[in-house]
Amino acid sequence: MDIHSWSRPDRVRVRHLELDLDVLFDRKILEGSVALHLDRTSGDELVLDTRALTIHSVENAARFSLGAADPNLGAPLTIRLEPGATWVRVHYATSPEASGLQWLDPPQTAGKRHPFLYTQSQAIHARSWIPLQDTPGVRVTFRAHVRVPDGLRAVMGAALDTTPDGRHFRMDQPVPSYLIALAAGSLDFREIGPRSGVYAEPPVLDRAAHEFADTEAMIAAVEELYGPYRWDRYDLLVLPPSFPFGGMENPRLTFATPTVLAGDRSLVSLVAHELAHSWSGNLVTNATWSDFWLNEGFTVYVERRVLEKLYGPARADMEAVLGRRELDREMAGLRESDRVLHIDLTGRDPDDGCTLVPYEKGALLLRTIERAVGRDRFDAFLRAYFAHFAFQSITTADFLEYIRRELPNTVPLDEWIFASGIPAGAAEPHSDAFTRIESGWPADTTAWSTHEWLHFLRTQDPPDMPRLDRQFHLTDSTNSEILHQWLLMAVKANYQPALPKIEPFLCSVGRRKFLKPIYTELMKTPEGRARARAIYAKARPTYHPIAQGTIDGIVN
Ligand code: BES
Ligand code: ZN
Repeated sequence: MDIHSWSRPDRVRVRHLELDLDVLFDRKILEGSVALHLDRTSGDELVLDTRALTIHSVENAARFSLGAADPNLGAPLTIRLEPGATWVRVHYATSPEASGLQWLDPPQTAGKRHPFLYTQSQAIHARSWIPLQDTPGVRVTFRAHVRVPDGLRAVMGAALDTTPDGRHFRMDQPVPSYLIALAAGSLDFREIGPRSGVYAEPPVLDRAAHEFADTEAMIAAVEELYGPYRWDRYDLLVLPPSFPFGGMENPRLTFATPTVLAGDRSLVSLVAHELAHSWSGNLVTNATWSDFWLNEGFTVYVERRVLEKLYGPARADMEAVLGRRELDREMAGLRESDRVLHIDLTGRDPDDGCTLVPYEKGALLLRTIERAVGRDRFDAFLRAYFAHFAFQSITTADFLEYIRRELPNTVPLDEWIFASGIPAGAAEPHSDAFTRIESGWPADTTAWSTHEWLHFLRTQDPPDMPRLDRQFHLTDSTNSEILHQWLLMAVKANYQPALPKIEPFLCSVGRRKFLKPIYTELMKTPEGRARARAIYAKARPTYHPIAQGTIDGIVN
């Protein structure tokens, strides 16, 4: 049972969807229908999740009713099935405020001439654009027909069907609802490898193709470690800057923030991460949002193994140390019960569980098991795990049962998974490069990576802001990660020369990871609060509903 879904798949389970949608930019809605193909076990009621949907009618059903909306879960749509019926079709429209959709006006795009739409379904936002069983425990195949205005292109995390109009999609591998994804805008495409390409707005395409040139090497690296890539193609879509995440692992089509386009491929661990989800997450999926660490912890572990294979251990070590330190920093502000891998989300939005705990504590657990059993045995274990549970949704209990059988007596798993904080005996990451940085003011930074810069800046205590800026011109950095770190420090230190950069930064980027710390820091002083409120009044309409929710909570 998934507490974040009204559905009862144990009684009637949806197996396949047929979507037919019009993308209506002028009204900021999707309108059309979805046919749901069913497996019936018991009863004659199909319960679907919805949020802010208008239900026009339900075909092939005796009757239907929309229940009261819960603030976290939305409203259940209960459909009374005809005896023996194995499908229904719901005709519906979305709301302009749908939590899983962002409608961008032309000024918010790179090209400035056409509108843009994209979906973000994880964790429980698919229900705001499709009435369905919105739980990762239910997997569906689907087909979709999406109509967009002339001159725009629709893309989905799915295969392009054989019809020539480019608007029919199919997904023949069963996927959980949170991985159903659609985008539409002025998009061009360029091949970057034998099974990969990039979609982006025309002004961004060259930079994107250059940044992601290592994609095929990354796919080959994961395949060598953990078995074949099961999704045929791996493409990337670069979204406009308001995308609230770094990346989203939609199957066959990773959605990515343009803030990774640093020009020097220094931030492509994001691609390694989203690609790794093609095994951990998309193939083997958390059955509920309390099991989210199975997705993200495994993915961060795999991501670093890919980085190590492609760019060497020094690079992977730096990422691991950065992750470990950020984990400690974030955990210090979390309640005890949120420092647990298998998190209790009763009465909460599953997005609340998205801290670094599932990511970094999860990866640290796998590192620690790897160290206990040896890399060869752990690699064999993971390869078998992905094959054994492929295309299934599993709980933490399923994982525990499997690992206790395959790798008995490794580490205290119950303590790692159900207790708060980091157990004694954790494998502590270490970076020689970082140790050198800690030894004093650097003599030569010309060969520094983004990671070295981040570590250097984060370990200045207290930072000599004028000296740092004079010598390294940080206020003028064009690397989004470094600039973000620098601006955060500037707010903390009230370093005046950098403060005018805060508004353009917060108004041009919608990535929640960048927004949240800066707004939080601004709110700590009266001048900062005034600045935060003034900036947010301008920036809010450009943010995604998810980011708006987060920043509303900070600024109000
Ligand atoms: N699946 C996540 C993004 C996500 C998590 C969206 C929970 C909604 C709810 C994605 O794989 C991810 O972890 N993205 C990270 C980047 C990554 C390099 C750590 C992000 O967006 O910051
Ligand atoms: Zn992830």
